Amino acid sequence: MRGRLVIIDDDRAFREVLEAVLLDEDYEVLVAPDGTEGLRLVAEKHPELVLLDLRMPDIEGLEVLRRIKTSTPEVAVVMMTAFGSIKTAVDSIRQGAFDFLTKPFDLEELKNTISNALTLRKLSQENQALRTILKQQTLDFPEITGLGPRIQQVFSLMKRVSQHDVTVLLTGESGTGKELVARALHRQGIRSEGPFVAVNCAALSESLLETELFGHEKGSFTGATGTRLGRFELAKGGTLFLDEVGDMSALMQAKLLRVLQEGEFERVGGNRPIATDIRLVVATNKDLPSEVAARRFREDLYYRLNVVAIFLPPLRERREDIPLLVTRFLAEFGLRYQRPVETVAPEALARLCAYHWPGNVRELKHCIEQAVLLGDGPVLMPEHLPFELAAGVSLSDTPSEALGLEAVEAQHILGVLKQCRWNRNQASEMLGLHRNTLREKIRRFGLGPDLMV
Ligand SMILES: Nc1ncnc2c1ncn2[C@@H]1O[C@H](COP(=O)(O)OP(=O)(O)OP(=O)(O)O)[C@@H](O)[C@H]1O
Ligand SMILES: [Mg+2]
Repeated sequence: MRGRLVIIDDDRAFREVLEAVLLDEDYEVLVAPDGTEGLRLVAEKHPELVLLDLRMPDIEGLEVLRRIKTSTPEVAVVMMTAFGSIKTAVDSIRQGAFDFLTKPFDLEELKNTISNALTLRKLSQENQALRTILKQQTLDFPEITGLGPRIQQVFSLMKRVSQHDVTVLLTGESGTGKELVARALHRQGIRSEGPFVAVNCAALSESLLETELFGHEKGSFTGATGTRLGRFELAKGGTLFLDEVGDMSALMQAKLLRVLQEGEFERVGGNRPIATDIRLVVATNKDLPSEVAARRFREDLYYRLNVVAIFLPPLRERREDIPLLVTRFLAEFGLRYQRPVETVAPEALARLCAYHWPGNVRELKHCIEQAVLLGDGPVLMPEHLPFELAAGVSLSDTPSEALGLEAVEAQHILGVLKQCRWNRNQASEMLGLHRNTLREKIRRFGLGPDLMV
């Protein structure tokens, strides 16, 4: 049985044809001749979907739709009418109908519409589950969304280093979350009471970068009318984040190396050494080993910076996180723009999951922001997505539903394991899973006690 449907239509012959066709398609079918009876069936039998005639003798179709959506919003409603007026179609979609069929309609069209509506309904429920996860996310780094094994590895490293002053080198393509991780390390670390100071080393010329980092003494150069503190001093007691460190000039590389070796620096034009009191986090989207090989980056500085390296994998290598990221950004932008989007149409989610995301999470985030702004209803549709995403994707290519479910499952298992303090016997009992099955799932989701304590 593929689902329970209710047909509400006053035209008896039509009702019977539909009933026969849908029974044949392996649906359970209930029928009602008017709105009153239809509403009763919906309330008592909890169908997944309602086929609703717009024009009926007792209660108007739109009113029936409104009542169904108020009492049981999870039920998908497909409207039918012989009077195809654009206005009523738009009205019913606004009121939450999934789709609109104009009589006479093709039976293939009917079957497709029903099966799409049911898939969407399922996804929407999963989306609810994902949202609950996001709300309860008591993870260590709640600002960073992700449940897959690749991002868990990142969390694991972050946890190991956050409580120490070791220098951290963040690498990864543009938009993978390096700055986000740098801030999270600071917020969770021992220096969280101190400031977080970021400098983009690629944005400034050599001499500007030097005074920016180390400050200058009054009169040290024309225009230096007062003493100015550099970022090393401003970050005192906190974290200094040097972004795009791979773009530093040879001279600045030499100066930075000296500061790291000696633990002190001087302001430009000054000679009083000032001790550094910072935790250093640096980031680059360059491949530093090859920069070193090409003699564009000092090898000795590379080793100083590369005490602990955290690599942020590109989004296309951790597609399992896409549904959760989409859910998070939808919630975020829905709120910001006062445009609540409840769910993502299956075709749209399939495209989001299949795209290669050269701009990584940043690109996904912008894409969802745009879709929220372009959208006009509770469902994010494929046409709200940028054109590039459409190429060569079909719904069956992508295990989008499985992805969503796996994320839910992984999160649940993780929660139970934590609760049992990683006692697997106890956890497998609580989960109702055989121990071997649990072990397999732990392995597949990349869960481990050192990841999440
Ligand atoms: N795992 C994540 N969860 C939620 N938001 C994320 C995640 N990863 C990245 N983002 C968001 O994506 C955007 C880009 O992230 P960020 O600026 O940290 O990337 P980056 O690696 O520093 O990129 P670049 O190399 O271009 O500077 C930010 O808005 C960030 O909040
Ligand atoms: Mg950045």
